[in-house]
Amino acid sequence: MPGNKGVIYEGPGRVEVRATDYPDFELKDGPGVNPANVGRKLPHAAIIKAIATNICGSDQHMVRGRTTAPQGLVLGHEITGEVAEVGPDVEFVKVGDMVSVPFNISCGRCRNCKEGKTGICENVNPDQPGSAYGYVDMGGWVGGQAEYVLVPYADWNLLKFPDRDQAMEKILDLAMLADIFPTGFHGCVTAGVGPGSTVYIAGAGPVGLAAAASAFLLGAAVVIVGDLNKERLAQARGFGCETADVSEGEPAQHIERILGVPEVDCAVDAVGFEARGHGREAGTEHPATVLNTIMAVTRAGGAVGIPGLYVTGDPGAKDEAARQGSLSIRIGLGWAKSLSFTTGQCPVMRYNRQLMMAILHDRVRIAEAVNATPIPLDQAPRGYEEFDKGAARKYVLDPHGMLAGAA
Ligand SMILES: NC(=O)c1ccc[n+]([C@@H]2O[C@H](COP(=O)([O-])OP(=O)(O)OC[C@H]3O[C@@H](n4cnc5c(N)ncnc54)[C@H](O)[C@@H]3O)[C@@H](O)[C@H]2O)c1
Ligand SMILES: [Zn+2]
Ligand SMILES: [Zn+2]
Repeated sequence: MPGNKGVIYEGPGRVEVRATDYPDFELKDGPGVNPANVGRKLPHAAIIKAIATNICGSDQHMVRGRTTAPQGLVLGHEITGEVAEVGPDVEFVKVGDMVSVPFNISCGRCRNCKEGKTGICENVNPDQPGSAYGYVDMGGWVGGQAEYVLVPYADWNLLKFPDRDQAMEKILDLAMLADIFPTGFHGCVTAGVGPGSTVYIAGAGPVGLAAAASAFLLGAAVVIVGDLNKERLAQARGFGCETADVSEGEPAQHIERILGVPEVDCAVDAVGFEARGHGREAGTEHPATVLNTIMAVTRAGGAVGIPGLYVTGDPGAKDEAARQGSLSIRIGLGWAKSLSFTTGQCPVMRYNRQLMMAILHDRVRIAEAVNATPIPLDQAPRGYEEFDKGAARKYVLDPHGMLAGAA
């Protein structure tokens, strides 16, 4: 049996790479594992050799100490790799298959899975519907920023790439199928983006940039990306976006400068609850700012997509209400404008196959849009630190040294 090594959350601001258990076809007790999941038999699982495993803004919420993530948690939910072993109940997935792993863990058997709502599967997390690898309150499935990771319900969850050599040629693009590309695309689809749309995307992190690339793929006429990070705004301009530096005033002013009216057809929140204020408030957190902004700038009758993460408890929030996840949202404005809202985990499986085809047939260059940057697994702490400081990069960990030359 090979050994294993993973990225471990060691408390606010600290991650370490060290030896971890090689996966087994049974869920063992460990940090963050829900007691009701301990001893769960997983004959339907596959063990994946992780070829590319990305660091996400969602991990940062934990690593910044803004969640109740326990010390010792193995991180990582954006996994792409090769099937190393399959359990006795796996019928169709084969050892050697090259696959993308949707970050949502889902069973394929519950009511929500049958309706395509794989982000809120009822059978994988005893606490609440919805689950993910290596994430707080998500059932305790071991994370995949590691050499090897176990994927339950493998026949259902895994997306197989058609050809190994073709997949290795576009591996950094395909690595974005586990989360941020479908997530950005879902943000745009639920915001109603289509041919000729004008779109405001709050946030130029990897999810915002993936949403912007998705908006173009969906036919948007103008894509305006807002952030206060100048390097990330430059990255967005690099593939044809207009930009709004929100530290220099309200997004509505920028939108009016660009479009002639302070309004867009569709808007996406790719920021979440750690949002900064606008203009002079940009130095401090204002968790409801982006939600209120996207309601204000979207035309009446439009829709807003909210992939940005909001939590039921935030130990680092400024006030008691926000510590419980209650934010001061202008719902009256949203009601008056008849806006539609979509929140929650992106149901990755709804989009990953189509987006894979768009990548393989050169319809989109997602790795370039998000500046995918491979680094060795051992350098994960550096990746976390630079990403936290706002580097305009999507860090892709390379546990087996197979990404050299892919950049
Ligand atoms: N729904 C899902 O399935 C899903 C999946 C992946 C990520 N997410 C969430 O999406 C969000 C973005 O992820 P990411 O990896 O890009 O994170 P990130 O932290 O790298 O990016 C967030 C960006 O927002 C910017 N920002 C802060 N306040 C702003 C404001 N008022 N207006 C505009 N920009 C502002 C920050 O400067 C930063 O560049 C996170 O909350 C993450 O947890 C959700
Ligand atoms: Zn992610
Ligand atoms: Zn299910």
